Amino acid sequence: MNAAAHAGARFPSALIDRIRLADGREVVVRPVLAIDAEAEQAFVRGLSLESRRKRFHLPIRELSPALLRQLTDVDHVGHVAIVAEALASDDAPTIVADARYVNENGETHFAIAVADAWQGIGLGRALMQRLLRYAARHGIARMVADVITDNTAMTRLAASFGGRLSMSPHGAGLTRAHLELAGG
Ligand SMILES: CC(C)(COP(=O)(O)OP(=O)(O)OC[C@H]1O[C@@H](n2cnc3c(N)ncnc32)[C@H](O)[C@@H]1OP(=O)(O)O)[C@@H](O)C(=O)NCCC(=O)NCCS
Repeated sequence: MNAAAHAGARFPSALIDRIRLADGREVVVRPVLAIDAEAEQAFVRGLSLESRRKRFHLPIRELSPALLRQLTDVDHVGHVAIVAEALASDDAPTIVADARYVNENGETHFAIAVADAWQGIGLGRALMQRLLRYAARHGIARMVADVITDNTAMTRLAASFGGRLSMSPHGAGLTRAHLELAGG
């Protein structure tokens, strides 16, 4: 049983949305669920090596069972995660993007990844907007992300939300993006 069963935890239905992207393709955005494990693993396997390196900071091929569970069986309170699902005719969900924040050690860390074939058409920005708005409404004042220093797309995306950059405490080669959230 995950922490969603804790008193006060609520399913974040406010995060459900449908978005039309710049090239006309559409996605459904929704909170991730434990039953998404297979689809989430397929999403990660389908990322290019470069996108996986940028997202996980390691050249992993797929998620370990423990990490897969951690990323899909979330409590929707201290760990809020949304996925974008491609609208398709069959029943199997195809996850094409994932964005999340996790409260740990007094900080809120965020991370995002968009499938390579879906990058550059506004999906990353759309997910960040929704995640940041939800976080602000739930009392989060600031968030950080450690970004590989050559990750121009992510540092620009963070900067477009007013993000400030500093050296990451987690080592050379990482830049920390700090976002201040406007009150919800
Ligand atoms: C970073 C990432 C999430 C951006 O998502 P995206 O859907 O491609 O981005 P969008 O199309 O919404 O673009 C949003 C902004 O990001 C920046 N951006 C996106 N792609 C860019 C690129 N190739 N070069 C420079 N800036 C870029 C721009 O500021 C852009 O705004 P603009 O279109 O107004 O110029 C995506 O490239 C990705 O998943 N990369 C691999 C994983 C990763 O780096 N994760 C970050 C770890 S925290």
